[in-house]
Amino acid sequence: MERVALVTGGTRGIGAEISRALKATGHKVVASYAGNDAAAKAFAGETGIAVLRFDAGDYGACEVAVAEIAKTQGPIEILVNNAGITRDTTLARMTREMWDAVINTNLGSCFNLCKLTFEGMRARKFGRVVNISSINGQAGQYGQVNYAAAKAGIFGFTKALAQEGARHGITANAIAPGYIDTDMVRAVPEEVLQKIIAKIPVGRLGHASEIARAVVFLSAEEAGFVTGSTLTINGGQYMV
Ligand code: CAA
Repeated sequence: MERVALVTGGTRGIGAEISRALKATGHKVVASYAGNDAAAKAFAGETGIAVLRFDAGDYGACEVAVAEIAKTQGPIEILVNNAGITRDTTLARMTREMWDAVINTNLGSCFNLCKLTFEGMRARKFGRVVNISSINGQAGQYGQVNYAAAKAGIFGFTKALAQEGARHGITANAIAPGYIDTDMVRAVPEEVLQKIIAKIPVGRLGHASEIARAVVFLSAEEAGFVTGSTLTINGGQYMV
């Protein structure tokens, strides 16, 4: 059955593969992005997927976007909170702005978009929320107190929401990707990245498509009994 799916940060990296995979599954996908117009335009042209520019960390902007999607595509029934940024540095050097930016974008966006779509999902007795966390929210990571905190927060958020949605046909699950071959990971200094890859038992970075197929699984009609779970996909780097 065709559903309307919103994928935040859905035009690049892991999000782009998620958008593609949900479209291939038969859904009507909207991919949001924060600022890279050129990448979004290229993605839309190549895939035919609708793109929408708004800051997922800004509640007011989300309110406008959700209303627009409802008007142009229909009510959102699959929500993939994927938008994420890094502002890596040690706590000693981290500014309050670096903290706020990461918490707002990576965790605040989950609140904003769940809050704005939950009522509609409840009324229609169907909803699939998939929140993209990270291995670094499970294990911590040197230089990422902001990112690790936001990504760890996603686990608690997801488990609480799963309890609230359960009786209404709404599931909420988290995925914890390891190091995936994206621009974000490629921005890690090369010598640091090589040390990280050396610790991955599978011996390589993950592919974005390996995360996307898990989103397809969790957002399926048949996945109604899977809720409050964390799916760890990290090549064996950290086993929970
Ligand atoms: N454990 C212990 N010590 C460490 C360390 C670690 N993991 N990493 C660095 N250090 C130490 C270094 O050995 C060095 O010590 P000395 O001065 O005694 O030699 C000191 O910390 C400073 O290290 P750097 O030279 O690297 O310092 P920097 O200030 O230039 O950079 C940093 C610090 C920004 C944290 C950098 O090391 C870095 O970018 N690390 C990678 C962080 C990371 O993995 N980010 C993930 C981004 S991708 C992502 O987040 C996606 C996802 O979900 C997986």
